[in-house]
Order: sequence, then structure tokens, then C-alpha cells
Amino acid sequence: MATLEQCCLLIFWTIFFTIFFTKAQIPLPCDRGWLKTPSGAHCVKAFYQKKKVWHDARRACKNIGADLLTIRDKDMSNFIKEYFVYHDKRIEFWIGLRKLRGGNGWHWLDEDRPLTYTDWYVKPEKSVWRNYKNDLCVFLKKFRQVRAAWFIWICPTKFSYICQKPIASICFNEWEKSPRFDSCVKVYGGPKNWEVNWTIAKLACQAFNGALVTIRGDTMSNFLRDRIIAKKNFPMWIGLHKSTATDRWHWLDEDATPTYTKWSDGYPDGKTKRCAAIKKIDGRGALWLTFNCSLRMGFICETAPPPHCTYKGRSYRENTQMTISDKCGNPHICFYTYWRPVLYQCRWDGKCFELNYKRDGYTCRKDKDGRANWILDKLFKLWYDSA
Ligand SMILES: *[C@@H]1O[C@H](CO)[C@@H](O)[C@H](O)[C@H]1NC(C)=O
Ligand SMILES: *[C@@H]1O[C@H](CO)[C@@H](O)[C@H](O)[C@H]1NC(C)=O
Repeated sequence: MATLEQCCLLIFWTIFFTIFFTKAQIPLPCDRGWLKTPSGAHCVKAFYQKKKVWHDARRACKNIGADLLTIRDKDMSNFIKEYFVYHDKRIEFWIGLRKLRGGNGWHWLDEDRPLTYTDWYVKPEKSVWRNYKNDLCVFLKKFRQVRAAWFIWICPTKFSYICQKPIASICFNEWEKSPRFDSCVKVYGGPKNWEVNWTIAKLACQAFNGALVTIRGDTMSNFLRDRIIAKKNFPMWIGLHKSTATDRWHWLDEDATPTYTKWSDGYPDGKTKRCAAIKKIDGRGALWLTFNCSLRMGFICETAPPPHCTYKGRSYRENTQMTISDKCGNPHICFYTYWRPVLYQCRWDGKCFELNYKRDGYTCRKDKDGRANWILDKLFKLWYDSA
């Protein structure tokens, strides 16, 4: 039986949603040089010049927030052939399909589901490769005027390749798209923001599905320079530290010593200062300095953009998107699903979730600094249905 509280909550939500819906057209474009696939869920790009063995091709895709191409239906297959494959008979493209040594058959990337759509030139059971003991990989190639198909080959062969990534390139709330391929950045370090030691800063960024920012070139360095405050004693933590294991400086996500550096004069200094921060120095940009990791200061996080949300394999039409402000005033990008009238698919902090305002609720809590946060807990059903 509905309690008085539940009844009032429902009325509240009904009024709330009526008032706070603001229709907004938020385009979900592919980055420059990438093509949107027919389903609208992915962006794809072919890499012709630097041919790579299958595993390196996959790694190269991953380095830019993508993976090797998957072809799951005829629409996608035709699209890829038309845009990339039919132009030149001499080009072989690795795709994300392979058979692992000792494995049981052909699978896309890390999946273990059987293939539902196939486009073999010669079916694997009939292929000369059928008894081959090592890993085998698949490439796509044109063989007649408008014919192309999948061919089996040994993985350590250098071919061109096609990468694919989810279409989402929107950053959340206060995150801003960085000039680096597909990343969002947020600066925590204004007067009202946290000041923490390097370890806590690292953990805080991880809590947002990200990491302390890395700076690997002038573009990113200049971008950050324009976003941090020029103030005396106002440095901000970045993801660079001197590891105790190797006693060398490196970024959190790699072991190698950075090749691009922007140290301020006389840095890195000392044996005891093992963490790096950037500081805006007028006329010279955002320079790197080293500090005792226990010092408390602002920090800069970087994350991948949130995934593109699909529902039961169907990706949302762009014109059904809208921004919904929650009870705390935070805007969320949501999708209205016609076939389930009270259900909304929203994205928040890199996750897709569905919000059924009749059934679910949530609490709004103010944090220490008076900022409102959603408490995302059992009240929301988190879902991932994207590639
Ligand atoms: C860093 O600073 C803390 C607190 O001021 C101090 O206790 C510690 O010894 C310093 N660490 C190093 C390695 O200098
Ligand atoms: C950072 O702060 C946390 C919590 O105050 C503390 O537990 C940790 O030891 C500190 N780390 C460093 C490197 O100072």
C-alpha cells in the first residue's frame, strides 16, 4: 500500500519533471576524419599508411580510444565496403575478428559469442587454414569490382586496419573536452574546490573513472595553461611522479620517462620531491615543478568521454535527447523512450543509467563545500548496453 510519503513523492516528481524539462539539441558528431556508421552508434576510420600486424593494429586503435572494427550486420558491412574497401583492390584491412590458438572458433575481439553475421570469402571449415594451430586473424579485401569479403590470414602480417569507437564525445557537466583525441578534463582547484595531497588527488580522479591529467605535447599544455589560475603558490597536481621502484619520473599510465617535458628552470629538483604539479608562469605557459607529495593543492583530472547509450541494441535518435535537471540542479543528458513512457536513459559520470521516475528516487546531498551531488546507489539501475 502506498504511504503518504510515496504519494507526495510521486506528485513532486510529476511537477518537477514537467517544470524542468528543457529540450536541447545536442549533436553527437564523430571527430574530424571519422565517419558515423549507419546505426549511428559508432565512428569509424581507416588507417592505410602505417601498416601493422593485427595485435599492433588493435593497440593503435586502443591508443585513440577505439578498437578494431566489428561488422555485425549487412548495413555495416556494405557501409564499410563502400567507404573504404572498394576504392582499391590492393589494400587489406585487419578487422577485429580472430581465432585464438586453442580457442573454440571465431570471435569478435574479446567476446566469446558465436558470430551472427558472416561474410567469408571461403568458410573457415573449408579453408586451407582449418587445421592451423596458431592464432589466425581476419582481413577485409576487395576481390572484384564490387565484391569484398573476409579472408583468413596469420596475425603477424602487416596490413592496413580500420578502427571503431563509440560515438559519444560529450563531456559531462563541468568537464570540458580537451584538445587530445577523445578526453574530457576537469580542473579541481578553484577557491571553492578541494585541496588535497597527490595520492588523494590520484584517487579522486580514479573515482571519476579517470586519472590525473597527462601532458604529452604543446596543445594540451596550452589548453591547461588557459584553464588554471595564475597565482603565486597556486600549483596543481598532474599525473607525473617519481616512482620509488625505478627512481625515475614517469606518467601514471606508463613506465617510460616522458619525452615531452615542460620543466620550469631548475626542475625537477631534489631527492625528496617526488610529485609534479603545473603552475602558470606569465609569458611562459604552464610549467612543471616538483613538490613533496604530502602538500595539499588543486589537481586536474582527465577521463574518457561517457559511452554512447543504446537500449536493447538500439541507439538513441539524436532528436529524442534532452537535458533533465535533477533535484540538485545538475543537468543530465537523457533520452526519452517512446515505448516506455516514464523511462529515461541518462548519462552520468561516464555511465548509462535508466531513470524511472515513478519507481526510482534519489537523494540530493550537499558535500563539505556546499556543492550538491547525486547519490547514485541502488535507486538507479546502471546499465551498459553499448559497444
Ligand atoms: C613532506 O612533508 C611532510 C609534512 O610537512 C613531512 O613530514 C615529510 O617528511 C616530507 N617528506 C619528504 C620526503 O620530505
Ligand atoms: C594523503 O592524505 C591522506 C589522508 O589525509 C593520508 O592518509 C596519506 O598518507 C597522504 N599521503 C601523502 C603522500 O601525504
